Amino acid sequence: MSLEPEAPAPGYVTVCELEELQAGRGKRLQVGDRWLAVFLVDGTVYAIDDLCPHSGGPLSEGTVDGRRVICSWHYATFDLASGERLDSISRYDVDTYPVVVRDGRVWVKPEESVGEGPVGGDARTVDDETSERTT
Ligand code: FES
Repeated sequence: MSLEPEAPAPGYVTVCELEELQAGRGKRLQVGDRWLAVFLVDGTVYAIDDLCPHSGGPLSEGTVDGRRVICSWHYATFDLASGERLDSISRYDVDTYPVVVRDGRVWVKPEESVGEGPVGGDARTVDDETSERTT
């Protein structure tokens, strides 16, 4: 019997325990060769690329304002759920990734960018025990 927790669906990897996330603050996590910024905002966990598409600043160190993150380098603002840029500083949106929270563990599917998805449609609330999207 394996002690490793079972992934909620193919392609998901566990990145941290939910209790490691601080509400309103980003956490930088490496998944394979990619760095992600993971946020807990109002009970929902979001995962985006840590690399700001403007000039490469660390979005995990950005300021969280509601469901937005403001890059600490030149203040580009992105929606945490959709990755959409919310001003003209960056010419590009930031990639976002599906998240599942199960049994206190945060899972991310890093190979499936959902940056073009509907706002709020791809993040997982903490009490969402299922692994499939509802929207
Ligand atoms: S690097 Fe993020 S706004 Fe410039």
